[in-house]
Amino acid sequence: MPRVLMTSALPYANGPIHIGHIAGAYLPADIHARWRRSAGHDVLWVCGSDEHGAAITLRAKKDGVTPREIVDTYHEEMQAAFRSLDISFDHYSRTSSAKHHHVAQEFFLRLLEKGAFEVKTEAQFFDPEAQQFLADRYITGTCPKCEAPGAYGDQCEKCGSALSPTDLIDPKSTLSGASPVLKDTTLWYLPMDRHEGWLREYIEEGRLDGAPHHAASAWKAHVVGQCKSWIDGGLQARAMTRDLDWGVPVPVEGADGKVLYVWLDAPIGYITSTMEWCEANGQDWRAWWQSAEADLVHFIGKDNIVFHCLIFPILLKEHGGYNLPVNVPANAFMNLEGQKISTSRNWAVWVKDFLEEFPDRSEELRYVLASIMPEQKDSEFTWHDFRERVNNELADVLGNFVNRVLVLNRKFHESRVPEAGAFTAEDEAVLSALNAAPGRIGDFIERHRYRDALQEAMGVARLGNKYMTETEPWKVAKTDPARAATLLHVCTQITANLGILLAPFLPRTASKLAEAFGVAGLRWSDARADLVSAGAALGDLPILFAKVDAEWAEMMRARLEQPVERAVEPLKDTCTFDDFMKLDLRVGEVTACVPVPKAKKLLQLTIQTGLDERTVVSGIAEHFTPEEVVGRRVCVLVNLAPRKLRGVESQGMVLMASTADGGLRFVTPEEGTAAGDVIA
Ligand code: 2FM
Ligand code: ZN
Repeated sequence: MPRVLMTSALPYANGPIHIGHIAGAYLPADIHARWRRSAGHDVLWVCGSDEHGAAITLRAKKDGVTPREIVDTYHEEMQAAFRSLDISFDHYSRTSSAKHHHVAQEFFLRLLEKGAFEVKTEAQFFDPEAQQFLADRYITGTCPKCEAPGAYGDQCEKCGSALSPTDLIDPKSTLSGASPVLKDTTLWYLPMDRHEGWLREYIEEGRLDGAPHHAASAWKAHVVGQCKSWIDGGLQARAMTRDLDWGVPVPVEGADGKVLYVWLDAPIGYITSTMEWCEANGQDWRAWWQSAEADLVHFIGKDNIVFHCLIFPILLKEHGGYNLPVNVPANAFMNLEGQKISTSRNWAVWVKDFLEEFPDRSEELRYVLASIMPEQKDSEFTWHDFRERVNNELADVLGNFVNRVLVLNRKFHESRVPEAGAFTAEDEAVLSALNAAPGRIGDFIERHRYRDALQEAMGVARLGNKYMTETEPWKVAKTDPARAATLLHVCTQITANLGILLAPFLPRTASKLAEAFGVAGLRWSDARADLVSAGAALGDLPILFAKVDAEWAEMMRARLEQPVERAVEPLKDTCTFDDFMKLDLRVGEVTACVPVPKAKKLLQLTIQTGLDERTVVSGIAEHFTPEEVVGRRVCVLVNLAPRKLRGVESQGMVLMASTADGGLRFVTPEEGTAAGDVIA
């Protein structure tokens, strides 16, 4: 029986999960794992949060909190997102745990012992104010290639050039703004060039030392292509330690303030995760990592290829005793409405937010993401396409077919599987396609062709829907009830099989079908054309998929356009202290408010200022109703020269803040202030 250890890229615990992550490394693995479990294979799928590296510390700095707070928050939030989409990891771990630190340190020590590293002391940028060495991302400066400002120590995002921190013109520390100085530090390097020979064979063959080839181990062309171009470009030594205070400490005397490079510690997280699961389940983790019987498969996005196909295999081989991955079926990227998904620009569909708002759409999201999975090249998600697929495929084909089968069985057979008479050639053709389906779907899944697999599974529903539409059992029932029963029998077999065959893709729908058709708990190998017996009772199901209307799809698309960032307003000319002191600002209380007739934008406020009660006309009518304004405490400029607006004299001005979303908010004096208090 095949034994497969599956891993999915450990997501950085520095932000929420979006649909691009899911389509890349989690949904394909989920389909794969669910299919293998159903097929009775011995499979273990591990993942966890990647909680180290500059991704985390930068985020913490930005939010003004500790790295620990960041990872604790997102470790929980990411798991909630995965759960909401029924991503069925066997175990989800985290790299900041004591257990993982220990495992990673042991691994490092073993590599050290085997002479896998070269230790070098060299000059690195150091921030004299923050008193720390600076990781590449903590240094910015002018790009030496394109002269763009704001290039990072590892890359210029303007022209895409890969850089070293010392290449930057006029480098600055992002921590303090100080100019960094060069200071000697010791680093442990992995000399990758030593491994070029065997790596080339491993990548080109997709295996090493003539290991057996099977369907699941054919590597994708784009993965092989990327690896070969790295090797052809000449492999460089890569530092495996960093001078940072967040990460797995380097377990060597005198290495204080040094941690393992995140790309050394993170993949070891797969091992830790396996160990944890094995401890909890009474198994030996070595049977998954070190046994010739077990296949290791990494599910990742294309930005992680070099780490999983070159660096981690080197580490595993140097350590000794470990299997190398038999396949790394990396996916390309999924774009969203014509643009790259971007966390910083909020150009994303966040899984947790989406499913909290629309909890009944998880199957639809899985379906669409699987249909457009970027298996070989980048793909594109649009809400228009989402709508079309849900309406035309899930609702009109699958949902409609299942519903018709149940309704007709209720009407003609008291909700029992009808008896079949002799099959015609047409029936036989349908039944034999049904018999072939499990093998065809499984074969595609095994070869990591999830789009084709889903097409094949939906093809079963399509076949049933077409057969029913063409044979019209409801009409035949009037003249030849026995033939109509045979037709419905065939349709019922198809539907019952869908309860098994759709399970890897649409687990909730499949389990509803399995319940209704009495096939719950059955396995992949049980799927066949005579799955259910005549006379077996059938359950009932509500409509499986609600249609999506055009307005909803348009609303979802329009949401993306909402600006989250805007150009900062330029600084105005300097004003003197005396200028400022001329302003008489007071706390006021709004006692009445009415619209200004024929002025769309204006509200007329009556404000108690402590001095008097006066009228102020304010351009806020598009943002607030009069009821929302009455009773508020506000900041008022009371010595502004009066002026008439639409015939009403305004005797002051209320202070408002303009927000990034184009809105207006009151600048509200804190609790404890009262009308008449002077603001200065
Ligand atoms: O790219 C990323 O999100 C990384 N955190 C993936 C790590 S995969 C593995 F090596 F742990
Ligand atoms: Zn540049």
